Amino acid sequence: MDDARRPPDDRFRLMVQGVLDYAIFMLDPEGRISSWSAGAERIKGWSAGEIIGQHFSVFYPPEDVAAGKPARELEIAVERGRLEDEGWRLRKDGTRFWANVVITALYDEHGQLQGFGKVTRDVTERRDAEVALRESEERFRLLVQGVLDYGIFMLDPEGRISSWNAGAERIKGWSAGEIIGQHFSVFYPPEDVAVGKPARELEIAVQQGRLEDEGWRVRKDGTRFWANVVITALFDEQGRLRGFGKVTRDMTERRNAEQALRERRRLVGHLVDAQEVERRRIAWDVHDESIQSMVAVGMRLQLLASRLPEPHAAAVAGLDESVQAAIGRLRALVSRLRPPELDRSGLVEAVSGYVDEVAGHWGLAHSVRDELTAEPSPEAAITVYRICQEALSNVHRHARATRVDVVLSTVDNGTRVRITDDGVGTTGEDAGAGHFGLVEMHERAEAAHGWLSVTGTPGGGTTVEFWLPMLPDVTGPES
Ligand SMILES: Nc1ncnc2c1ncn2[C@@H]1O[C@H](COP(=O)(O)OP(=O)(O)O)[C@@H](O)[C@H]1O
Ligand SMILES: [Mg+2]
Repeated sequence: MDDARRPPDDRFRLMVQGVLDYAIFMLDPEGRISSWSAGAERIKGWSAGEIIGQHFSVFYPPEDVAAGKPARELEIAVERGRLEDEGWRLRKDGTRFWANVVITALYDEHGQLQGFGKVTRDVTERRDAEVALRESEERFRLLVQGVLDYGIFMLDPEGRISSWNAGAERIKGWSAGEIIGQHFSVFYPPEDVAVGKPARELEIAVQQGRLEDEGWRVRKDGTRFWANVVITALFDEQGRLRGFGKVTRDMTERRNAEQALRERRRLVGHLVDAQEVERRRIAWDVHDESIQSMVAVGMRLQLLASRLPEPHAAAVAGLDESVQAAIGRLRALVSRLRPPELDRSGLVEAVSGYVDEVAGHWGLAHSVRDELTAEPSPEAAITVYRICQEALSNVHRHARATRVDVVLSTVDNGTRVRITDDGVGTTGEDAGAGHFGLVEMHERAEAAHGWLSVTGTPGGGTTVEFWLPMLPDVTGPES
């Protein structure tokens, strides 16, 4: 017999029997099980033969049975025609599952109660997921509540405060009880409120979804702090504005630190300038006075030597040689104080001249490679020269190296210099009191809006690398 010719009841029975996701069964008016589906067997574990005729209270945990829950559920189904419940139920093996249960009272055409239909679903997984979600929401709420570094709070669509965390209390001073319900414009200085800034910030957040701002905000005690503020508009699934999330950070300390750093760089810049001016002055003084007068002394000695008989002539000539040697040393001093090549022939010549002179003198193999495609400004050139001087003097004094190599190149619209030695290596860590060479190198590079790094491996040599922007008024990448 094919399906279409079966009696309708029979087809319905087959369908109920076939459903595996639901336990579908019937109870007689007293609550005894009178039919049982494949799904019921799968979910609860009893076979039809085992369970038919038993009272349905076997499905309930003892505490529910003791409280009379099964009988009460049937009563309610009779009263209202239907009852839905969620709760723990038992399987044959005694394990529990979270069940969604619908009990329907069944009447015949004379209004006589025939029994109950019962549909039970195992929703343990759904419940676990809901519990997990609730727990994670709760944990998230606790996290937000407990965060101290950020003020995190919510505004309703009109801008009134609707939640408040511990960080907000710490930063702004109000407790939740004091502030919830107030308008968030209390956080703004009067001049901002006067020009309508709070309302405008919410408008922008609605239009663009989000707004970030830095500026002065007011604490409960009236003092101001420098705040970084992010306002996020919160919409529900229907796209309706539900309010705003606001995260505020107190940046006063960072701002002070940045200002202190800027101030220090400005001072170092002045110091370095003053030092250069002073060196130049000393260089001219030494040149104009000491060297000139020694040259004059030398000429007189030569004149004198030509007029004196031997052995006096030889003695005076010896004196003259000493004077010439002293003049040579003074000229070298002058050129270190104020390298004339920097003015005359540019940076590379000056650095090469210096490296040749000192490294040659110390017996170090050396090279200077010129990859510059643009000449740095005079100020940058002096900084490069000075840092090279200090780095080379460190190679001489500390590295125990056999060679040193200098490369100058034009990179990122600035001048990059690398000074590499093959000595004992250094980490570039702070050497402590009395060692200012590395500190001064860093300060000089940073005062010129550039950077400097020292890298080294024990036994593997040291590299001092720095970069200075091309134009003195171009600010560095971090400012
Ligand atoms: N090229 C280098 N090779 C090995 N060590 C170095 C080198 N440059 C610097 N150092 C180490 O770093 C320390 C700090 O250098 P610096 O600040 O110039 O002070 P100073 O030269 O007066 O000691 C040095 O004492 C040395 O230990
Ligand atoms: Mg040094």
